[in-house]
Amino acid sequence: MSENTEPVVDLESAELEVDLPPIGSRERYDALMQVVRNRVTVRKFDQNHVVPDETYDLILEAARHGPSGANAQPWHYVIVRDQEIKDQIAAYFVEEQRFRAKAKMKFPTPDYRGLATAPGFIVVCSDMRWVNAFPVLNDGSDMDRMYKENAERILLQSVAASTMSAHLAAAALGYNVWWVTAIGQESAQNAMKPLLGIPDELSVLDIFLFGPPAQKPYKRWRKSLDDISNRDRFDPDHFMTDEDLNDWIKTRRHRVMYKDASKID
Ligand SMILES: Cc1cc2nc3c(=O)[nH]c(=O)nc-3n(C[C@H](O)[C@H](O)[C@H](O)COP(=O)(O)O)c2cc1C
Repeated sequence: MSENTEPVVDLESAELEVDLPPIGSRERYDALMQVVRNRVTVRKFDQNHVVPDETYDLILEAARHGPSGANAQPWHYVIVRDQEIKDQIAAYFVEEQRFRAKAKMKFPTPDYRGLATAPGFIVVCSDMRWVNAFPVLNDGSDMDRMYKENAERILLQSVAASTMSAHLAAAALGYNVWWVTAIGQESAQNAMKPLLGIPDELSVLDIFLFGPPAQKPYKRWRKSLDDISNRDRFDPDHFMTDEDLNDWIKTRRHRVMYKDASKID
């Protein structure tokens, strides 16, 4: 941790306090929903904006409070301010974009050149060794494999929970965001880690970009509340068959990822 970083809140008192509003009061909920609804992805930013150093602290302070399995907090955030490094990372993504086009994955891949335009650029790392902090046997048995798989899920959910807090903090500060996982593959990670001095033991899970948008942001389609809610038992009407799912991917995916499929961000 940097020695010069002044805490952005009074840690002594804030750290231990639990300050919830009366149950059922709407004020904080409404304020939160304002942030949640307006956390919107853009894939090209206004490159002229400079993120004040303090803003990174405000955002990562939110990440720090994320919940995690066994309270392991298995995350590290690397703030990238050096434009040359941003350019090099963006180049990896553009290469991936080309590979996908050649491999005919049929995934509507966005234009990853936008990565280099992000004023706010944070690489999200996890330390997978923390799986051992969760219930595992470590004896190489089939049972161990089952528990290990779940431990990995616990770890990934933990990092995502923390990352989501950071995205919401950025939205609360007025920024658009971009959550990029596209080159989590091992080979790409290994190429990226030396650029940032990230130890071999850590994994680069995703990249969190934020900044003012280069173009007007737009809100994307959401499933209805009814579609995602079930009371007491899973509603069979909500179940999609393999055929439904495949059809959805074929006919709808590109339309829900982008406002206009002919204009992929
Ligand atoms: C786990 C996760 C992985 C994502 N990976 C990528 C990615 O690799 N590339 C990308 O352009 N967007 C990625 N996104 C952004 C989503 O495409 C975006 O959140 C979604 O289309 C909904 O749009 P919204 O964020 O504006 O609500 C990812 C989002 C999440 C939560």
